[in-house]
Amino acid sequence: MAKKLYIKTYGCQMNAYDSARMADVLAPLGYAPAAAAEEADMVILNTCHIREKAAEKVFSELGRLRPLKTRKAAAGGRLILAVAGCVAQAEGAEILARAPYVDIVLGPQTYHRLGEMVAQAARAGGHVLDTDFPAEAKFDFLPEHAAPQGVSAFLPVQEGCDKFCTFCVVPYTRGAELSRPAAAILAEARRLATQGAREITLLGQNVNAYRGAAEDGAWRLGRLIRALAGMEGLRRIRYTTSHPLDVDDELMAAHRDVPQLMPFLHLPVQSGADRVLAAMNRRHGADDYRRVIDRLRRARPDITFSSDFIVGFPGESDEDFARTLALVREIGFARAFSFKYSARPGTPAALMPDQVPDAVKAARLAELQALLAGQQHAFNAACIGRTLEVLFEKRGRHAGQLVGRSPYLQAVHAPAPDRLIGALATVRITEALANSLAGELAGCVAEMTA
Ligand code: SAH
Ligand code: SF4
Ligand code: F3S
Repeated sequence: MAKKLYIKTYGCQMNAYDSARMADVLAPLGYAPAAAAEEADMVILNTCHIREKAAEKVFSELGRLRPLKTRKAAAGGRLILAVAGCVAQAEGAEILARAPYVDIVLGPQTYHRLGEMVAQAARAGGHVLDTDFPAEAKFDFLPEHAAPQGVSAFLPVQEGCDKFCTFCVVPYTRGAELSRPAAAILAEARRLATQGAREITLLGQNVNAYRGAAEDGAWRLGRLIRALAGMEGLRRIRYTTSHPLDVDDELMAAHRDVPQLMPFLHLPVQSGADRVLAAMNRRHGADDYRRVIDRLRRARPDITFSSDFIVGFPGESDEDFARTLALVREIGFARAFSFKYSARPGTPAALMPDQVPDAVKAARLAELQALLAGQQHAFNAACIGRTLEVLFEKRGRHAGQLVGRSPYLQAVHAPAPDRLIGALATVRITEALANSLAGELAGCVAEMTA
C-alpha cells in the first residue's frame, strides 16, 4: 500500500544528506515523498542542535504537528511522528517527556535501522528511542537504490568531530571522527556520476581531518580529491566544512594541481583574537589562519574564501572584537556566516564566567554583518563584465532561464535551453543581485549527454 513520507530538514548539509538516505531506507517499505506534512502518513523532523534557536524550532514544530496526528487518529488512521538528528541525539529522553505523542526518536548514527523502528512503532504503538553510536557504520548499510541527487551531489566522507571547541555540540551529537574507506567513497561517487552528478561536494563535520583506509595505507583528503578528479563525468569537486588546523601539504597541493577542485573554500575562523581562539580551544591563532590563507592563495591565485564567525563568546572584549573586524578587513571574504554566541548545555563555554550580555552581542553582530555584507556585495559587483564558468543545475524562476553556480558558489541565472542542465557553460555576468548573479550565455565548455 502506498504511504506518504514528509521530511523536514534543519541544520547542515550532512543533515540534508541524511534526510535523503532516510527516504531511501523507507522507500522499500512503500513510503513515497509527500509534498506537505498534512498529506503524510509519516513525518520526520531532522533536527539541528547547534544554537538554542535551532533546537527550539523542534518543539514548536512538534506542537504544530500534534493536531494532524489527532485528526488522523480520529479518522481511523495513524500518523507516525519521528524526531531525528542532533536534537534527538542530545535530548532524546526530554523530547519523549515533553512531547509524548512522538513515536520514534533516532540519533544521526542509526538511520539505517529506521525500517525496523517504523515496524516496531506500527506494531507496538509505544515509543522507540535509538540514540546509540552503533559499532557498525551507517554508511555501510545504505540501500542499493538511492534516489538521484541531481547535477550537484553531496557525498559524506567523514563524520563526527574530535576537536571539542568549547562552544560546540557536534562532538557530542555526531560522536567521534569516523572516516569512510576510500573505495566506498569512490564507488558512491561513480554511482552519483552515473546518475547525472557533475559536481560532488565532499562532506564532513571536519572534512579535512579525513583519514580513510585504502589498500596503500590511509588516504588524506588531498589524495581522495586527486582520485575523484580522474572520474568520468565529474567536472567539479568541493569540500566542506574544513578546519584551519587540518589544511595539510597534500590538500594545498590539490588546490594547486587539480583544476576540478573549485577555487572557493569555506574555512571557519570564528574569531580574530588569539585570547578568544584559545578559550574556544580552536588550537590555532589568528596569524596561523592568515598563513593558511596566504599559502592557499599562492597555491591557487583565484581562490576566494568564506568563513564562520561567533561574536560575544564568553569574555570577548571590545578589543577582541576589533581584532575580528581587522582580520575580516584584511582577508576579504566572498561570503560568510556569523552568529551570536549561544550557550549550549553540556559544553564547557556555557559554564565560563563573563558571559556577554545579549545587547552587546547584537551590536557586534550587526557591525560584523554590515562589514561582511559589504565585502560580499563588492565581490559580486566585481564579477560584472567577467565571463564565469557556470554549471547549470535546474530551471530558474522565469521561463527559458536556467540557474547554476559559478566556481565561487554564487548562484547564476541566465537564459539558456533545458538541454544545458548538467552542462558547464561560460556566462558573461551582466548584473549582481543581492544573493545571485545574472548573465548571458557566452559559450558551452562541455555539454554532457546523459
Ligand atoms: N564543523 C564546522 C562547523 C560546525 S557548526 C567547523 O568546525 O567550523 C557551524 C558553525 O556554527 C560554526 O562554525 C560556528 O561558527 C557556529 N556555532 C557552533 N556552535 C555555536 C554556538 N554555540 N553558538 C553560536 N554559533 C555556533
Ligand atoms: Fe564543532 Fe569545532 Fe568540531 Fe567544528 S571543529 S564541529 S566547531 S567542535
Ligand atoms: Fe546542526 Fe548537527 Fe549539523 S547540530 S549543524 S545538524 S551536525
